[in-house]
Amino acid sequence: MPTPPHPLGPFPDDFTWGVATSSFQIEGAAFEDGKGASIWDTFCQVPGAVSDASNGLVACDHYHRLDSDLDLIAGLGVDAYRFSMSWPRVRPGGDGAWNEKGLDFYDRLVDGLLARGLRPYLTLNHWDLPEELQARGGWANRDTVHRFVEYACGIGRRLGDRVASITTHNEPWVIAMLGHDAGIFAPGIKDLPTAMQVSHHLLLSHGLALQALRAQGCPSQLGIVLNLSPMHPATDSPADIDRTRLEDGRLVRWYMDALFKGSYPADVLEFLGPAAPRIAEGDLAAIAAPLDFLGVNYYTRAVVSADGPWDVHRSGLELTDMDWEVYPEGLTELLVRLHRDYPVPPLYVTENGSAFKDQMVEGRVHDSRRTHYAASHIEAVAQALRQGVPMAGYMLWSLMDNFEWASGYEKRFGIVHVDYDTQQRTLKDSALWYRDFLCEQKTRRGSGLLMAAGA
Ligand code: FCB
Repeated sequence: MPTPPHPLGPFPDDFTWGVATSSFQIEGAAFEDGKGASIWDTFCQVPGAVSDASNGLVACDHYHRLDSDLDLIAGLGVDAYRFSMSWPRVRPGGDGAWNEKGLDFYDRLVDGLLARGLRPYLTLNHWDLPEELQARGGWANRDTVHRFVEYACGIGRRLGDRVASITTHNEPWVIAMLGHDAGIFAPGIKDLPTAMQVSHHLLLSHGLALQALRAQGCPSQLGIVLNLSPMHPATDSPADIDRTRLEDGRLVRWYMDALFKGSYPADVLEFLGPAAPRIAEGDLAAIAAPLDFLGVNYYTRAVVSADGPWDVHRSGLELTDMDWEVYPEGLTELLVRLHRDYPVPPLYVTENGSAFKDQMVEGRVHDSRRTHYAASHIEAVAQALRQGVPMAGYMLWSLMDNFEWASGYEKRFGIVHVDYDTQQRTLKDSALWYRDFLCEQKTRRGSGLLMAAGA
């Protein structure tokens, strides 16, 4: 496969380039230094829940390799690192006592990033809810909303002056639907009304946390991260088109309308009937608190037919190891549509990346398909910029191979290879490409500055 086209872009000088991870997927040290159990620690013990029967006990051992991992990130030449905080590591029971050793880990993480000239992008909830809160009903219990706001405020006080941004939740759709309707992610519940109540509580806790963080003068940029995809009908039959509109409502408009219009879409409420969530007075206004940024995680489009689940196999396009279509034009389509339909703040692609079966050959991983995936999606962001979308940044998923939820360690999304026996990290060709690409971006920025200075 030839090297991806250069140059991609152009991108604005203040565009933020990054890599992303999440706590449960990389940290390990699941029960060290006072950390409490998360719902993913529990879910991994359910027979059959994780395809390779693995867990997060060690993962990438990032907790013990913080400094060398920070060097690794800095070596890529990124501007920013998107990571998440494990709520049960810093507050084991979800409320009650804070765990100073857990907080200290994130102090060192944030300070280590700043010392290396990198901007910390913190996510408060990337799915690892304290198990003790799940025992009290988890996200289905309205009380968890208030526990989350307390957690957000505590972290805002501790780190708000040092992190560039705070994201409340990563992908509320996934937590609600895969965790509480399909039951294939923690906590493994299969009940649509519960799932919809969870989605409402996640959004409400997001809005209330933003209000509370602002009220205490938190200086970081505040936002949320959604997983969004364009939905295409499998055929032009009226049934497929209708179903596509409904699924778009459930994935995209449910969240976007709530955040930007302060309402849930009428067609989805009608479809849900008695499964619609209970909404208290003032909830929707709280959810629509202004955002400083919106993060979009994009991997693929969805192809929808009336008679089946989302189907990605029909088109004959290249598939990743997740069986997801490689469809970069869907990212441009999505970003342009968000900008057209909603008064969006600056947008980030907060996750984008691909799993492929890698082979280590003489210490190298020639993952040209992953490089092409990244390059074509970065170009799709440039296309959106050209069409006027306020794009602020792009973060590759993921810095390194890690625990891919119900797929365990079998799916590798990293641009850095992890040998799970030795914990050795090896830059794949995609990482070398990204590093070169970012170096070019910096050179271009530098020459732009020189020209502006009349040199
Ligand atoms: C997203 C998750 C992230 C990772 C990627 C592949 O849905 O946010 O943790 O698993 O998918």
